[in-house]
Amino acid sequence: MKVLDNPQTAQQACQSWRRDGLRIGFVATMGALHDGHLSLLKRAIAENNRTCASIFVNPLQFDDPEDLNTYPVNMEEDLEILKQHGCDMAFSGTMETFFPEVGNPAMIRRIDPGPYASSLEGTYRPGFFDGVATIVDRLFRTVGNCRAYFGEKDFQQTLVVKHLSNQLKGAGIDIEIVVCPTVRSKTGLALSSRNQQLGVVDIDIASRIYQALNRTQLAWRSSVRDRATLTRILNTALEHPLISIDYAEIRNPDDWNSTEKEMDSATALVAARIGDVRLIDNLRLDQPDES
Ligand code: PAF
Repeated sequence: MKVLDNPQTAQQACQSWRRDGLRIGFVATMGALHDGHLSLLKRAIAENNRTCASIFVNPLQFDDPEDLNTYPVNMEEDLEILKQHGCDMAFSGTMETFFPEVGNPAMIRRIDPGPYASSLEGTYRPGFFDGVATIVDRLFRTVGNCRAYFGEKDFQQTLVVKHLSNQLKGAGIDIEIVVCPTVRSKTGLALSSRNQQLGVVDIDIASRIYQALNRTQLAWRSSVRDRATLTRILNTALEHPLISIDYAEIRNPDDWNSTEKEMDSATALVAARIGDVRLIDNLRLDQPDES
């Protein structure tokens, strides 16, 4: 596996693959890799001729400096995992090498994350999607035409990156976004790099998020379609003295900003804090079991 610590050399490697007629699969990560990332990587490897992954903890998407400082970093281990699983190239960079045209990172022009970014995560993490869109735009411009793999756990992020890929078409860059199912632990907890920060008891409590999503899906399956009722069921199922809910909402995944009362398509989305650890998860209510 090629390991490149500069986006410019990564760009050249991707250009050279494309010149050879090879189709590229791309997985963007902030490192601290887990089985969720590996499911994206495996799919990228299966569906393309070459696969590359980026590892970069993007400061632009952290509104809380403490959150950035405590974000897990295991570069050596991550590179080994990528190599073992057959990734062809891994690249990283610094703010200076990702944005060489800007002397001072504070001056970086933020990319507008578009119409899907203004609620839920956008409300609770101001500036988060601007930061995601700004780095993902840079990553997409580095890799160039490719298929890019993202996890459904970050459902709102998948809407934002789909919007971004549509914008990039105008610049002649063709990124096909592939959304892959959420990978869960045995107890149903959605895998996340942040799970490393949970204690044993917290993991047990965190698993209640998936139980609450399932409870809401059961209601959907017994023909509840009223948004307010589904929202109440979700919130009630989340009640626990150690779970602090940021949001627990029902949205139409195909019409994100709609406010219809009776839903014909629905996803339940949750963001909650267990102690200092913030977790997000979601479940499509109108689809068969994930397993
Ligand atoms: O989902 C993530 O890990 C990050 O938001 C991403 C897409 C790598 C951008 O930093």
